[in-house]
Amino acid sequence: MNKINSVRGTKDLFEEQLLLFNFIEHTAAALAESYMFKEIRIPIIEYIEVFIRNLGETSDVVNKEIYSFPDKSGEILCLRPEFTAGVIRAFVNNLQHLPLPLKLYSSGPLFRYERPQKGRYRQFHQVNFEIIGAKTYKLDIELILLADSFLKKLGLKDYYILELNSLGCDLSRSNYKAALIEYFHDYRSALTPESLLRLEKNPLRILDSKDRNEQQLIEGAPKIGQFYTEEAKDFFNNIMEALKTLNVGFALNDKLVRGLDYYSHTIFEFKAVNCANSGAQDTILAGGRYENLVSNLGGKPLPAVGFAAGIERLMDIVSFPPVKEEAAFKTISIIPIGEEAEQKALELSYKLRNIERLKIDLQYGLSLKSRMKRAEAHFAVIIFGLEELNNNTIKLKLMKTGEETIIPLGNISDNYRNDNDNNNSRDGEDRRDFKELIQYLRAL
Ligand code: HAM
Repeated sequence: MNKINSVRGTKDLFEEQLLLFNFIEHTAAALAESYMFKEIRIPIIEYIEVFIRNLGETSDVVNKEIYSFPDKSGEILCLRPEFTAGVIRAFVNNLQHLPLPLKLYSSGPLFRYERPQKGRYRQFHQVNFEIIGAKTYKLDIELILLADSFLKKLGLKDYYILELNSLGCDLSRSNYKAALIEYFHDYRSALTPESLLRLEKNPLRILDSKDRNEQQLIEGAPKIGQFYTEEAKDFFNNIMEALKTLNVGFALNDKLVRGLDYYSHTIFEFKAVNCANSGAQDTILAGGRYENLVSNLGGKPLPAVGFAAGIERLMDIVSFPPVKEEAAFKTISIIPIGEEAEQKALELSYKLRNIERLKIDLQYGLSLKSRMKRAEAHFAVIIFGLEELNNNTIKLKLMKTGEETIIPLGNISDNYRNDNDNNNSRDGEDRRDFKELIQYLRAL
């Protein structure tokens, strides 16, 4: 039979890559908790309208990338291409009664039909943070600080920059759009078909063009800053001042527009620098403020601000988890020798698995030598064969020091503990855990 490949643009995750994935996801979840975000899990499939109505007709996501399909009843559904619109839909349906501002955290897979390359997949994962009912600019700051400490906790201190812009309020933007239409109108013949379409629907998106000729035109285009209302200007100035006071470095990029249409005021992107991702797919985390999404989805007119980080993009630059797995959990290998011992091992492992912070590697099948080899990385190994079974004992070995002891199950001598208390050369924490383990075994 032929092997079946995974779908283009998707990846299987296992071994070290999975540890790295989990490390990134757990770091985000821990921060979410400390910043008082509540977790929300939303469906992977949604009515396509959730996204069409909000992400923008000219956005690549809606235009080319959304995975949509009629289900068996003919309803047009899609696989979620991002969290924000889905989280807001869920908020409007279920959570509007909660006190504001409401902080919601999510994590999981998203789908976009993109041209796959390093850092760009058709199934990818984000950790996503939204603050709903966020009137004050201080919540934009809180979120940027959260993003900054998230990346620092991942060990990326010297590997990212923050780019910032403001799209102003609705009025600032509609004046700016009018000015852009006037400006680009004179250069219509030089625009790509895609930009011509954007000129009609959303001229701001032309600023995102990667086309060399267009980039020259963009240099000469009017700048958003000229069109801020006083209120929009103050809002943005407050953000920049606060970041300076807090010593958070940023670069103002007035061509930053983001690929989704729901933003207003603050937008930001954290980009990878000095590392493997510097270049094409370098945006590792991105977001901003949005003021019309909640009402567009049938809720009260509430402003919100949020961001998402791409886990796969982070995996390309984060080194192997600095926290060793063994630090949090102790792994015990159980190596039974012979059929009868294997049966007994099931019972023993069942009991030991109830103990917190213990991981049990019950080893069958391989040769004794291979099993001992595999146990080398673990905290301790429990070995027992016929002799131990007959004597109702087990042999316990602490891997780090090689210290071995025979423990009569259910009847261990206190002398053992006293003897070893006098030995100061062993690592204190391991010693304590080893003694605790012996206590557990004695009680079985
Ligand atoms: P986005 O810029 O479309 O924003 O995506 C956020 C992040 O997801 C990107 O910076 C990138 O790290 C990752 N990402 C996006 N597409 C892919 C892909 N095809 N493969 C791998 N990683 C990818 C949003 O999704 C907004 N919903 C963010 C937001 C939250 N704004 C407000 N709240």
